[in-house]
Amino acid sequence: MALPLRIAPSILAADFTQLGDQIRQAEAAGADQIHIDVMDGCFVPNITMGPLAVEAARRVTSLPLDVHLMIVHPENLIPAFVAAGATLISVHAETCPHLHRTVQQIREAGAHPSVVLNPGTPAVAVKEVLPFVDMVLVMTVNPGFGGQAFIPQMLGKIGEIRGMLDALGSTADVQVDGGIDVTTAPQVVQHGANVLVAGTAIFRAPDGIAAATRALREAVRQW
Ligand code: DX5
Ligand code: ZN
Repeated sequence: MALPLRIAPSILAADFTQLGDQIRQAEAAGADQIHIDVMDGCFVPNITMGPLAVEAARRVTSLPLDVHLMIVHPENLIPAFVAAGATLISVHAETCPHLHRTVQQIREAGAHPSVVLNPGTPAVAVKEVLPFVDMVLVMTVNPGFGGQAFIPQMLGKIGEIRGMLDALGSTADVQVDGGIDVTTAPQVVQHGANVLVAGTAIFRAPDGIAAATRALREAVRQW
């Protein structure tokens, strides 16, 4: 059964002087959820947003807020992100020695749990928690920055994760993040991804947010 294709614009690439307007434009263009990249300068070499930004986004859109935590000790901040309005919270396998506990914590706090794999982390690292998650995010760049080149060797891992979920009878989503555009989107969808994060391709598109969102959806329509 094919899962619905969803587009998750990443506001990391948005114009922060007009963040509310940019999120509204993405919603009007047919975005399915808003991806918010939280970085701590420790797990990844960059610092971005926190619960305050999630709370601000919550006030301008009714779309699900898809919060990608690239932080050490994410368990300490899960209550704050849920209180700020996060719909779905993704935690990296690399930051969670007690991954099963953290996933349960997210669900008990009232958000959908998701686990993330860095490019260097094999699919098997999340195998034991697959029955407990609503999404798996396969990073297609090393996290930390927008605008990086897609790593094509990740296509196999996308298929591997989709296959493991299917074998469990799970309808959890497979999300991809990093270097997704009209060229790479059909490839990831063909391999089993159904939630596409796109920052640069949407918010930095020369023809605007609406046209870029439509183009991305059109690029994967046949799949
Ligand atoms: C990278 C972030 C991504 C980033 C993707 O660490 O997790 O969500 O915004 O940006 P693009 O789409 O520009 O590769
Ligand atoms: Zn992200």
